[in-house]
Amino acid sequence: MSLREKIDIDNLPQHVAVIMDGNGRWAKKKGNLRIFGHQNAITAVRETVEAAAELGIKYLTLYAFSTENWSRPKYEVDALMQLLVSTIRKETETLSKNNIRLQSIGDKAALPAACRAQLEEAIELTSKNTRMTLVLALSYSGRWELVNAMQKLADQVKAGKLAPEDINETAIQGALNTAEMPDPELLIRTSGEQRISNFLLWQLAYTELYITELLWPDFRKEHLYEALVSFQQRERRFGKTSEQLQKAHS
Ligand code: IPE
Ligand code: IPE
Ligand code: MG
Repeated sequence: MSLREKIDIDNLPQHVAVIMDGNGRWAKKKGNLRIFGHQNAITAVRETVEAAAELGIKYLTLYAFSTENWSRPKYEVDALMQLLVSTIRKETETLSKNNIRLQSIGDKAALPAACRAQLEEAIELTSKNTRMTLVLALSYSGRWELVNAMQKLADQVKAGKLAPEDINETAIQGALNTAEMPDPELLIRTSGEQRISNFLLWQLAYTELYITELLWPDFRKEHLYEALVSFQQRERRFGKTSEQLQKAHS
């Protein structure tokens, strides 16, 4: 039985999030510059998007550039931004053909103008697509998003549109960049690091974590299947006991 056949299609996560890490180390191992790793990450992105769409996953969020990544050397940041523009330009047609909608989360205003323009164009062009939503986290961090959400809510309170006692989980969720999306059920991180790195801090509250030693440029469809099989073998208890869950199923 192939890995793909082991996946229960009726029990797929609706939303998978990925921390695509390890490009620099991948390149270094090959005696190359870090940028070479970023360039070779595109194949992994393409495979993951394709596999997720084929399976019927509804949301795929990829952490492509964090707020903290702005602190990297300027030449690396510039190269990443350029790679982003050229990749979006090249891939928009494929996204459209495959009925995939592109969205982004993060501080779009912080992106270079050319990058923002390319991104907005692709988002607009694919906005009616319905098979899967591909979300790029760009200049994104969970804390940035939460600060942003609190400012929005405070503005509503100030304008008399929201009572402080009505600030509940639903209100906060609605003020996040991910307001329209379900929380990810599965988070994949490559390169073996056991941390969240300021990714979806609110949304990951009950997400299953899958960490692989594989470096991102080596990630392929099979590795997504592996993560999904692992996800499907877990018991998600949400604070309850195992016995309670078994009773509910019987
Ligand atoms: C992930 O790979 C890509 C980005 C953060 C943009 P890294 O560039 O972090 O690679 P490592 O972790 O240094 O190997
Ligand atoms: C996380 O990777 C951000 C992205 C994958 C875009 P980093 O390489 O920036 O994370 P840390 O700094 O090692 O935690
Ligand atoms: Mg890294």
